[in-house]
Amino acid sequence: MPTYLNFIDGCWIGSRSGKTFENRSPANRDDLIGVFQESTVEDVESAIAAAVRAYDRWRLVPAPKRAEMLYAAARLIEQRKDAFARDMTREMGKVLEETRGDVQEAIDMTLYMAGEGRRLYGQTVPSELRDKFAMSVRQPLGVCSVITPWNFPMAIPSWKIAPALVCGNTVVFKPATLTPLSAVNFVKVLEEAGIPPGVVNLVTGGPEVGTRLSTHDEVKVVSFTGSTTVGRIVNQNAAPNFKKVHLEMGGKNVVMIMDDAQLELAIEGCLWGGFGTTGQRCTAASRVVVHEHVYDEFLREFANRTKALRVGDGLDERTQMGPSVSESQLETVMKYVAIGQQEGATLVTGGHRLDTGAHARGWFHEPTIFGDVDPKMRIAQEEIFGPVVSVMRCRSLDEAIAIGNGVAYGLSASIYTRDVNTAFAAMRDIYTGIFYVNAPTIGAEVHLPFGGTKATGNGHREAGTAALDVFSEWKSIYVDFSGRLQRAQIDT
Ligand code: UN1
Repeated sequence: MPTYLNFIDGCWIGSRSGKTFENRSPANRDDLIGVFQESTVEDVESAIAAAVRAYDRWRLVPAPKRAEMLYAAARLIEQRKDAFARDMTREMGKVLEETRGDVQEAIDMTLYMAGEGRRLYGQTVPSELRDKFAMSVRQPLGVCSVITPWNFPMAIPSWKIAPALVCGNTVVFKPATLTPLSAVNFVKVLEEAGIPPGVVNLVTGGPEVGTRLSTHDEVKVVSFTGSTTVGRIVNQNAAPNFKKVHLEMGGKNVVMIMDDAQLELAIEGCLWGGFGTTGQRCTAASRVVVHEHVYDEFLREFANRTKALRVGDGLDERTQMGPSVSESQLETVMKYVAIGQQEGATLVTGGHRLDTGAHARGWFHEPTIFGDVDPKMRIAQEEIFGPVVSVMRCRSLDEAIAIGNGVAYGLSASIYTRDVNTAFAAMRDIYTGIFYVNAPTIGAEVHLPFGGTKATGNGHREAGTAALDVFSEWKSIYVDFSGRLQRAQIDT
Protein backbone atom coordinates (compact mmCIF):
# COMPACT_ATOMS: atom_id res chain seq x y z
CA MET A 1 0.00 0.00 0.00
CA PRO A 2 1.58 3.33 -1.04
CA THR A 3 2.26 5.67 1.88
CA TYR A 4 2.46 9.35 1.02
CA LEU A 5 4.40 11.86 3.11
CA ASN A 6 4.33 15.51 4.02
CA PHE A 7 6.78 17.84 2.29
CA ILE A 8 8.56 20.12 4.72
CA ASP A 9 11.71 22.13 4.08
CA GLY A 10 12.43 20.19 0.90
CA CYS A 11 12.08 16.73 2.52
CA TRP A 12 9.33 14.15 2.24
CA ILE A 13 8.70 13.10 5.84
CA GLY A 14 6.09 11.40 7.99
CA SER A 15 3.97 13.17 10.57
CA ARG A 16 5.31 13.19 14.11
CA SER A 17 1.96 11.73 15.11
CA GLY A 18 2.93 8.48 13.40
CA LYS A 19 -0.70 8.35 12.26
CA THR A 20 -2.11 8.13 8.77
CA PHE A 21 -5.50 8.27 7.10
CA GLU A 22 -6.84 6.34 4.13
CA ASN A 23 -7.78 7.71 0.74
CA ARG A 24 -10.43 5.56 -0.97
CA SER A 25 -12.20 5.92 -4.28
CA PRO A 26 -15.78 7.25 -3.97
CA ALA A 27 -16.74 5.10 -6.95
CA ASN A 28 -15.53 1.95 -5.23
CA ARG A 29 -14.75 1.99 -1.56
CA ASP A 30 -12.72 -1.24 -1.86
CA ASP A 31 -10.22 0.71 -3.93
CA LEU A 32 -7.69 2.00 -1.39
CA ILE A 33 -5.51 4.56 -3.17
CA GLY A 34 -3.00 5.10 -0.41
CA VAL A 35 -2.44 6.30 3.10
CA PHE A 36 -1.53 9.89 3.93
CA GLN A 37 -0.11 11.66 6.97
CA GLU A 38 -2.54 12.66 9.66
CA SER A 39 -0.56 15.68 10.73
CA THR A 40 -0.58 17.55 14.00
CA VAL A 41 0.09 21.07 15.18
CA GLU A 42 3.78 20.15 15.57
CA ASP A 43 4.06 19.29 11.88
CA VAL A 44 2.42 22.59 11.00
CA GLU A 45 4.89 24.42 13.26
CA SER A 46 7.87 22.91 11.44
CA ALA A 47 6.34 23.66 8.04
CA ILE A 48 5.72 27.28 9.00
CA ALA A 49 9.24 27.60 10.46
CA ALA A 50 10.68 26.27 7.18
CA ALA A 51 8.55 28.71 5.20
CA VAL A 52 9.71 31.60 7.40
CA ARG A 53 13.37 30.67 6.87
CA ALA A 54 12.95 30.24 3.12
CA TYR A 55 11.14 33.55 2.72
CA ASP A 56 14.16 35.78 3.21
CA ARG A 57 15.95 34.26 0.24
CA TRP A 58 12.93 33.63 -1.97
CA ARG A 59 11.63 37.18 -1.84
CA LEU A 60 15.00 38.32 -3.27
CA VAL A 61 14.98 35.90 -6.20
CA PRO A 62 14.06 38.11 -9.17
CA ALA A 63 10.43 37.57 -10.17
CA PRO A 64 11.34 36.50 -13.75
CA LYS A 65 13.53 33.75 -12.22
CA ARG A 66 10.75 32.65 -9.91
CA ALA A 67 8.57 32.56 -13.01
CA GLU A 68 10.98 30.30 -14.88
CA MET A 69 10.35 27.64 -12.26
CA LEU A 70 6.62 28.04 -12.78
CA TYR A 71 7.07 27.62 -16.55
CA ALA A 72 9.03 24.44 -15.87
CA ALA A 73 6.30 23.23 -13.52
CA ALA A 74 3.60 23.86 -16.15
CA ARG A 75 5.56 21.79 -18.69
CA LEU A 76 5.88 18.91 -16.23
CA ILE A 77 2.16 18.95 -15.47
CA GLU A 78 1.48 18.93 -19.21
CA GLN A 79 3.63 15.81 -19.64
CA ARG A 80 1.77 14.03 -16.83
CA LYS A 81 -1.70 15.37 -17.57
CA ASP A 82 -3.31 12.01 -18.23
CA ALA A 83 -1.82 10.26 -15.21
CA PHE A 84 -2.75 13.17 -12.92
CA ALA A 85 -6.30 13.15 -14.29
CA ARG A 86 -6.64 9.41 -13.61
CA ASP A 87 -5.36 9.83 -10.05
CA MET A 88 -7.84 12.64 -9.53
CA THR A 89 -10.81 10.72 -10.91
CA ARG A 90 -9.88 7.80 -8.72
CA GLU A 91 -9.68 9.90 -5.57
CA MET A 92 -12.65 12.22 -6.02
CA GLY A 93 -14.88 10.69 -8.65
CA LYS A 94 -15.49 13.26 -11.38
CA VAL A 95 -15.24 11.91 -14.92
CA LEU A 96 -11.93 11.81 -16.78
CA GLU A 97 -12.90 14.53 -19.22
CA GLU A 98 -13.41 16.85 -16.27
CA THR A 99 -10.30 15.86 -14.35
CA ARG A 100 -8.31 16.51 -17.53
CA GLY A 101 -9.90 19.93 -17.51
CA ASP A 102 -8.93 20.40 -13.87
CA VAL A 103 -5.30 19.56 -14.62
CA GLN A 104 -5.44 21.81 -17.69
CA GLU A 105 -6.65 24.66 -15.51
CA ALA A 106 -3.62 24.14 -13.26
CA ILE A 107 -1.38 24.32 -16.34
CA ASP A 108 -3.15 27.47 -17.54
CA MET A 109 -2.89 29.18 -14.17
CA THR A 110 0.75 28.25 -13.68
CA LEU A 111 1.60 29.62 -17.14
CA TYR A 112 -0.46 32.74 -16.58
CA MET A 113 1.22 33.52 -13.26
CA ALA A 114 4.64 32.71 -14.76
CA GLY A 115 3.89 35.45 -17.28
CA GLU A 116 3.29 37.81 -14.36
CA GLY A 117 6.95 37.30 -13.41
CA ARG A 118 7.82 39.82 -16.10
CA ARG A 119 4.94 42.16 -15.30
CA LEU A 120 3.72 42.50 -11.70
CA TYR A 121 2.84 46.01 -12.75
CA GLY A 122 2.83 48.89 -10.33
CA GLN A 123 2.11 52.53 -11.09
CA THR A 124 4.45 55.37 -11.99
CA VAL A 125 2.80 58.76 -11.52
CA PRO A 126 3.94 62.37 -11.72
CA SER A 127 4.77 64.04 -8.44
CA GLU A 128 3.15 67.32 -7.47
CA LEU A 129 6.62 68.62 -6.60
CA ARG A 130 9.58 69.30 -8.88
CA ASP A 131 12.50 66.88 -8.83
CA LYS A 132 10.54 64.19 -7.09
CA PHE A 133 9.64 60.77 -8.46
CA ALA A 134 6.59 58.73 -7.42
CA MET A 135 5.80 55.05 -8.00
CA SER A 136 4.27 52.00 -6.40
CA VAL A 137 5.53 48.42 -6.33
CA ARG A 138 4.04 45.13 -5.21
CA GLN A 139 5.80 43.52 -2.27
CA PRO A 140 5.29 39.99 -0.94
CA LEU A 141 3.88 39.47 2.55
CA GLY A 142 5.64 36.34 3.82
CA VAL A 143 4.19 32.95 4.65
CA CYS A 144 0.83 32.12 3.04
CA SER A 145 -1.49 29.35 4.24
CA VAL A 146 -3.29 27.68 1.38
CA ILE A 147 -6.34 25.62 2.35
CA THR A 148 -8.11 23.97 -0.54
CA PRO A 149 -11.23 21.88 -1.26
CA TRP A 150 -11.63 18.49 -2.91
CA ASN A 151 -13.76 19.46 -5.91
CA PHE A 152 -10.93 21.03 -7.95
CA PRO A 153 -7.96 19.24 -6.37
CA MET A 154 -5.25 20.63 -8.65
CA ALA A 155 -6.82 23.69 -10.25
CA ILE A 156 -7.67 25.48 -7.00
CA PRO A 157 -4.28 24.86 -5.34
CA SER A 158 -2.68 26.31 -8.49
CA TRP A 159 -4.93 29.40 -8.28
CA LYS A 160 -3.39 30.13 -4.89
CA ILE A 161 0.13 28.72 -4.97
CA ALA A 162 1.21 30.06 -8.39
CA PRO A 163 0.39 33.72 -7.63
CA ALA A 164 1.75 33.40 -4.07
CA LEU A 165 5.08 32.17 -5.45
CA VAL A 166 5.47 34.60 -8.32
CA CYS A 167 4.87 37.47 -5.89
CA GLY A 168 7.72 36.17 -3.69
CA ASN A 169 5.85 34.56 -0.81
CA THR A 170 6.37 31.12 0.69
CA VAL A 171 3.56 28.62 1.20
CA VAL A 172 2.22 26.02 3.58
CA PHE A 173 -0.42 24.00 1.77
CA LYS A 174 -3.16 21.90 3.39
CA PRO A 175 -5.30 20.09 0.82
CA ALA A 176 -8.71 18.56 1.58
CA THR A 177 -8.37 15.17 3.25
CA LEU A 178 -10.39 13.62 0.40
CA THR A 179 -7.90 14.64 -2.31
CA PRO A 180 -4.36 14.52 -0.96
CA LEU A 181 -2.93 12.59 -3.93
CA SER A 182 -3.54 15.40 -6.41
CA ALA A 183 -1.85 17.74 -3.92
CA VAL A 184 1.18 15.45 -3.68
CA ASN A 185 1.32 15.30 -7.50
CA PHE A 186 1.26 19.09 -7.74
CA VAL A 187 3.88 19.65 -5.03
CA LYS A 188 6.23 17.01 -6.53
CA VAL A 189 6.10 18.92 -9.80
CA LEU A 190 7.00 22.17 -8.04
CA GLU A 191 9.90 20.42 -6.34
CA GLU A 192 11.15 19.00 -9.66
CA ALA A 193 10.77 22.40 -11.28
CA GLY A 194 13.41 23.73 -8.90
CA ILE A 195 11.37 25.60 -6.28
CA PRO A 196 13.88 25.75 -3.38
CA PRO A 197 13.39 23.87 -0.07
CA GLY A 198 10.98 25.50 2.36
CA VAL A 199 9.31 27.68 -0.28
CA VAL A 200 6.39 25.26 -0.70
CA ASN A 201 5.45 22.92 2.14
CA LEU A 202 2.67 20.35 2.15
CA VAL A 203 0.96 19.20 5.35
CA THR A 204 -1.94 16.78 5.00
CA GLY A 205 -4.54 16.28 7.70
CA GLY A 206 -7.75 17.58 9.18
CA PRO A 207 -9.10 20.60 11.08
CA GLU A 208 -6.22 20.66 13.57
CA VAL A 209 -3.88 21.50 10.69
CA GLY A 210 -6.25 24.09 9.24
CA THR A 211 -6.75 25.81 12.59
CA ARG A 212 -3.04 26.24 13.23
CA LEU A 213 -2.55 27.50 9.69
CA SER A 214 -5.12 30.22 10.28
CA THR A 215 -3.97 31.30 13.75
CA HIS A 216 -0.15 31.19 13.64
CA ASP A 217 1.52 34.58 14.12
CA GLU A 218 4.02 34.01 11.33
CA VAL A 219 1.33 33.40 8.72
CA LYS A 220 0.52 36.64 6.90
CA VAL A 221 -2.05 35.48 4.34
CA VAL A 222 -4.67 32.77 4.53
CA SER A 223 -6.32 31.78 1.27
CA PHE A 224 -9.23 29.41 1.81
CA THR A 225 -11.76 27.79 -0.51
CA GLY A 226 -14.52 25.73 1.07
CA SER A 227 -17.80 26.01 2.87
CA THR A 228 -19.17 29.25 4.27
CA THR A 229 -19.32 27.69 7.75
CA VAL A 230 -15.63 26.84 7.78
CA GLY A 231 -14.74 30.11 6.05
CA ARG A 232 -16.30 32.03 8.90
CA ILE A 233 -14.17 30.10 11.42
CA VAL A 234 -11.01 30.74 9.38
CA ASN A 235 -11.86 34.43 9.29
CA GLN A 236 -12.35 34.55 13.05
CA ASN A 237 -9.15 32.58 13.68
CA ALA A 238 -7.17 34.98 11.54
CA ALA A 239 -8.68 38.22 12.85
CA PRO A 240 -6.72 38.78 16.10
CA ASN A 241 -3.37 39.13 14.34
CA PHE A 242 -4.73 40.95 11.29
CA LYS A 243 -3.91 38.41 8.65
CA LYS A 244 -4.97 39.06 5.14
CA VAL A 245 -7.74 36.54 4.57
CA HIS A 246 -9.06 35.52 1.20
CA LEU A 247 -12.24 33.43 1.36
CA GLU A 248 -13.99 31.71 -1.51
CA MET A 249 -17.11 29.94 -0.23
CA GLY A 250 -20.55 28.72 -1.16
CA GLY A 251 -22.83 29.40 -4.07
CA LYS A 252 -26.45 28.95 -5.14
CA ASN A 253 -26.06 29.93 -8.74
CA VAL A 254 -28.94 30.66 -11.05
CA VAL A 255 -29.56 30.11 -14.74
CA MET A 256 -32.34 32.39 -16.07
CA ILE A 257 -34.07 31.18 -19.20
CA MET A 258 -36.15 33.80 -21.01
CA ASP A 259 -38.97 33.06 -23.44
CA ASP A 260 -36.80 33.99 -26.43
CA ALA A 261 -33.96 31.65 -25.42
CA GLN A 262 -32.57 28.93 -27.67
CA LEU A 263 -34.10 26.17 -25.58
CA GLU A 264 -31.88 23.34 -26.79
CA LEU A 265 -28.79 25.38 -25.91
CA ALA A 266 -30.22 26.24 -22.49
CA ILE A 267 -31.00 22.58 -21.76
CA GLU A 268 -27.49 21.50 -22.67
CA GLY A 269 -26.14 24.28 -20.44
CA CYS A 270 -28.31 23.21 -17.51
CA LEU A 271 -27.18 19.59 -17.85
CA TRP A 272 -23.54 20.62 -17.83
CA GLY A 273 -23.96 23.30 -15.18
CA GLY A 274 -26.22 21.26 -12.90
CA PHE A 275 -24.74 17.78 -13.14
CA GLY A 276 -21.14 18.38 -14.23
CA THR A 277 -18.81 17.37 -11.37
CA THR A 278 -21.94 15.70 -9.93
CA GLY A 279 -23.14 19.19 -8.97
CA GLN A 280 -20.16 19.56 -6.67
CA ARG A 281 -18.90 22.92 -7.91
CA CYS A 282 -19.20 26.19 -6.10
CA THR A 283 -20.36 27.48 -9.48
CA ALA A 284 -22.89 24.67 -10.07
CA ALA A 285 -26.16 25.71 -11.71
CA SER A 286 -28.30 24.53 -8.81
CA ARG A 287 -31.22 26.88 -9.60
CA VAL A 288 -32.97 27.38 -12.91
CA VAL A 289 -35.59 30.09 -13.36
CA VAL A 290 -37.65 29.65 -16.51
CA HIS A 291 -40.10 32.03 -18.18
CA GLU A 292 -43.62 30.62 -17.88
CA HIS A 293 -44.09 30.57 -21.67
CA VAL A 294 -41.36 27.97 -22.10
CA TYR A 295 -41.38 26.38 -18.63
CA ASP A 296 -43.24 23.14 -19.50
CA GLU A 297 -41.33 22.51 -22.69
CA PHE A 298 -38.01 23.18 -20.95
CA LEU A 299 -38.75 20.98 -17.96
CA ARG A 300 -39.96 18.04 -20.06
CA GLU A 301 -36.88 18.00 -22.26
CA PHE A 302 -34.45 18.78 -19.39
CA ALA A 303 -35.89 15.82 -17.46
CA ASN A 304 -35.64 13.49 -20.48
CA ARG A 305 -32.03 14.38 -21.04
CA THR A 306 -31.26 14.06 -17.31
CA LYS A 307 -32.77 10.57 -17.12
CA ALA A 308 -30.49 9.51 -19.96
CA LEU A 309 -27.27 10.53 -18.17
CA ARG A 310 -24.97 7.57 -17.55
CA VAL A 311 -23.94 7.52 -13.89
CA GLY A 312 -20.93 5.45 -12.91
CA ASP A 313 -17.23 5.20 -12.30
CA GLY A 314 -15.55 8.26 -13.76
CA LEU A 315 -12.64 6.12 -15.00
CA ASP A 316 -14.99 4.62 -17.61
CA GLU A 317 -14.93 7.01 -20.58
CA ARG A 318 -18.64 6.37 -21.24
CA THR A 319 -19.66 7.68 -17.81
CA GLN A 320 -21.25 11.12 -17.84
CA MET A 321 -21.69 11.67 -14.09
CA GLY A 322 -19.60 10.21 -11.28
CA PRO A 323 -20.41 9.60 -7.61
CA SER A 324 -20.67 12.05 -4.75
CA VAL A 325 -17.26 12.48 -3.21
CA SER A 326 -18.01 10.76 0.11
CA GLU A 327 -20.63 9.06 2.18
CA SER A 328 -21.40 12.24 4.10
CA GLN A 329 -21.78 14.24 0.88
CA LEU A 330 -24.19 11.59 -0.40
CA GLU A 331 -26.13 11.81 2.87
CA THR A 332 -26.43 15.57 2.40
CA VAL A 333 -27.86 15.00 -1.08
CA MET A 334 -30.40 12.50 0.25
CA LYS A 335 -31.31 14.82 3.11
CA TYR A 336 -32.09 17.66 0.69
CA VAL A 337 -34.10 15.38 -1.59
CA ALA A 338 -36.26 14.57 1.44
CA ILE A 339 -36.48 18.25 2.40
CA GLY A 340 -37.59 19.19 -1.13
CA GLN A 341 -40.38 16.64 -1.00
CA GLN A 342 -41.49 17.77 2.46
CA GLU A 343 -41.51 21.37 1.25
CA GLY A 344 -43.95 20.40 -1.52
CA ALA A 345 -41.71 20.71 -4.58
CA THR A 346 -42.40 18.25 -7.42
CA LEU A 347 -39.79 15.55 -7.82
CA VAL A 348 -39.54 15.51 -11.61
CA THR A 349 -36.83 12.93 -12.01
CA GLY A 350 -34.20 11.14 -9.89
CA GLY A 351 -34.39 11.31 -6.13
CA HIS A 352 -32.77 7.99 -5.27
CA ARG A 353 -29.46 6.67 -4.22
CA LEU A 354 -27.95 4.14 -6.65
CA ASP A 355 -26.47 1.23 -4.73
CA THR A 356 -26.93 -1.94 -6.72
CA GLY A 357 -24.91 -3.65 -9.47
CA ALA A 358 -22.07 -1.47 -10.74
CA HIS A 359 -23.03 1.19 -8.19
CA ALA A 360 -22.97 -1.07 -5.14
CA ARG A 361 -19.55 -0.04 -3.81
CA GLY A 362 -19.73 3.73 -4.40
CA TRP A 363 -21.56 6.88 -3.29
CA PHE A 364 -23.83 7.25 -6.30
CA HIS A 365 -27.06 9.20 -6.59
CA GLU A 366 -29.42 9.79 -9.49
CA PRO A 367 -29.28 13.21 -11.11
CA THR A 368 -32.34 14.87 -9.62
CA ILE A 369 -34.66 17.68 -10.69
CA PHE A 370 -37.28 19.41 -8.59
CA GLY A 371 -39.98 21.43 -10.37
CA ASP A 372 -42.56 23.92 -9.06
CA VAL A 373 -39.99 25.10 -6.59
CA ASP A 374 -40.82 28.16 -4.55
CA PRO A 375 -37.83 30.52 -4.33
CA LYS A 376 -38.13 30.53 -0.55
CA MET A 377 -37.81 26.77 -0.15
CA ARG A 378 -34.63 25.47 1.42
CA ILE A 379 -33.74 23.55 -1.75
CA ALA A 380 -33.77 26.92 -3.55
CA GLN A 381 -31.78 28.73 -0.87
CA GLU A 382 -29.16 26.38 0.58
CA GLU A 383 -26.09 25.01 -1.14
CA ILE A 384 -26.48 21.24 -1.60
CA PHE A 385 -23.25 20.47 -3.47
CA GLY A 386 -24.75 17.51 -5.26
CA PRO A 387 -26.72 16.55 -8.36
CA VAL A 388 -29.95 18.33 -7.44
CA VAL A 389 -31.41 21.16 -9.55
CA SER A 390 -34.36 23.30 -8.45
CA VAL A 391 -36.50 24.68 -11.28
CA MET A 392 -38.67 27.74 -10.74
CA ARG A 393 -41.12 29.72 -12.86
CA CYS A 394 -41.02 33.45 -13.64
CA ARG A 395 -43.17 35.88 -15.61
CA SER A 396 -40.56 38.51 -16.48
CA LEU A 397 -36.89 39.40 -16.45
CA ASP A 398 -37.43 41.52 -13.34
CA GLU A 399 -38.90 38.59 -11.50
CA ALA A 400 -36.06 36.31 -12.64
CA ILE A 401 -33.51 38.81 -11.38
CA ALA A 402 -35.29 39.18 -8.05
CA ILE A 403 -35.24 35.38 -7.63
CA GLY A 404 -31.65 35.24 -8.86
CA ASN A 405 -30.51 37.82 -6.30
CA GLY A 406 -32.75 36.44 -3.56
CA VAL A 407 -30.19 34.14 -1.92
CA ALA A 408 -27.38 34.57 0.58
CA TYR A 409 -24.67 33.83 -2.01
CA GLY A 410 -23.37 35.68 -5.05
CA LEU A 411 -20.86 33.64 -7.00
CA SER A 412 -22.12 33.08 -10.52
CA ALA A 413 -25.29 33.52 -12.62
CA SER A 414 -26.33 33.26 -16.24
CA ILE A 415 -29.03 34.20 -18.71
CA TYR A 416 -30.26 32.57 -21.89
CA THR A 417 -31.83 35.11 -24.24
CA ARG A 418 -31.50 36.30 -27.84
CA ASP A 419 -32.29 39.89 -26.89
CA VAL A 420 -29.24 42.05 -26.34
CA ASN A 421 -31.18 44.52 -24.17
CA THR A 422 -32.33 41.75 -21.85
CA ALA A 423 -28.79 40.38 -21.65
CA PHE A 424 -27.25 43.74 -20.73
CA ALA A 425 -29.93 44.55 -18.16
CA ALA A 426 -29.30 41.20 -16.48
CA MET A 427 -25.52 41.70 -16.63
CA ARG A 428 -25.94 44.93 -14.73
CA ASP A 429 -28.58 43.93 -12.22
CA ILE A 430 -27.51 40.50 -11.04
CA TYR A 431 -25.23 40.97 -8.04
CA THR A 432 -22.63 38.20 -8.45
CA GLY A 433 -18.90 38.03 -9.08
CA ILE A 434 -19.30 36.12 -12.36
CA PHE A 435 -21.97 36.31 -15.06
CA TYR A 436 -22.55 34.39 -18.28
CA VAL A 437 -24.70 35.07 -21.32
CA ASN A 438 -25.96 32.05 -23.26
CA ALA A 439 -23.77 29.72 -21.23
CA PRO A 440 -24.26 28.00 -17.88
CA THR A 441 -22.86 29.25 -14.56
CA ILE A 442 -19.60 27.34 -14.93
CA GLY A 443 -16.68 27.82 -17.28
CA ALA A 444 -14.48 30.51 -15.77
CA GLU A 445 -11.08 31.04 -17.41
CA VAL A 446 -7.91 31.72 -15.46
CA HIS A 447 -7.20 35.25 -16.65
CA LEU A 448 -10.29 36.97 -15.26
CA PRO A 449 -11.13 37.44 -11.57
CA PHE A 450 -12.92 34.51 -9.93
CA GLY A 451 -15.00 34.92 -6.79
CA GLY A 452 -18.29 36.15 -5.50
CA THR A 453 -20.31 38.63 -3.52
CA LYS A 454 -22.27 38.35 -0.25
CA ALA A 455 -21.73 35.07 1.66
CA THR A 456 -19.61 33.69 -1.19
CA GLY A 457 -16.57 35.79 -0.41
CA ASN A 458 -15.00 38.61 1.52
CA GLY A 459 -14.27 41.00 -1.31
CA HIS A 460 -11.14 39.39 -2.72
CA ARG A 461 -10.82 37.56 -6.00
CA GLU A 462 -8.54 34.86 -7.24
CA ALA A 463 -7.32 34.30 -10.81
CA GLY A 464 -6.38 37.09 -13.20
CA THR A 465 -4.33 39.99 -11.91
CA ALA A 466 -6.85 40.27 -9.06
CA ALA A 467 -5.09 37.30 -7.44
CA LEU A 468 -1.93 39.38 -7.18
CA ASP A 469 -3.79 41.72 -4.84
CA VAL A 470 -4.29 38.83 -2.41
CA PHE A 471 -0.65 37.75 -2.45
CA SER A 472 1.11 41.12 -2.51
CA GLU A 473 0.67 44.49 -0.93
CA TRP A 474 1.45 47.91 -2.22
CA LYS A 475 4.48 49.96 -1.33
CA SER A 476 4.37 53.55 -2.54
CA ILE A 477 7.82 55.01 -3.06
CA TYR A 478 8.75 58.70 -3.35
CA VAL A 479 12.25 59.67 -4.45
CA ASP A 480 13.20 63.28 -3.90
CA PHE A 481 16.14 64.28 -6.04
CA SER A 482 15.95 68.05 -5.40
CA GLY A 483 18.51 68.06 -2.62
CA ARG A 484 16.29 70.17 -0.36
CA LEU A 485 13.25 69.66 1.85
CA GLN A 486 10.11 69.73 -0.28
CA ARG A 487 6.85 69.53 1.64
CA ALA A 488 3.88 67.86 -0.02
CA GLN A 489 0.60 69.81 0.24
CA ILE A 490 2.46 72.80 1.74
CA ASP A 491 5.07 73.94 -0.80
CA THR A 492 2.47 74.35 -3.52
C1 UN1 B 1 -15.78 25.70 -8.74
O1 UN1 B 1 -16.89 25.96 -9.17
O2 UN1 B 1 -15.66 25.12 -7.65
O3 UN1 B 1 -15.59 27.95 -13.67
C2 UN1 B 1 -14.56 26.06 -9.52
C3 UN1 B 1 -15.40 26.74 -13.69
C4 UN1 B 1 -14.05 26.19 -13.32
C5 UN1 B 1 -13.75 26.39 -11.89
C6 UN1 B 1 -14.89 26.08 -10.98
N1 UN1 B 1 -13.07 26.78 -14.15
O4 UN1 B 1 -16.26 25.99 -14.02
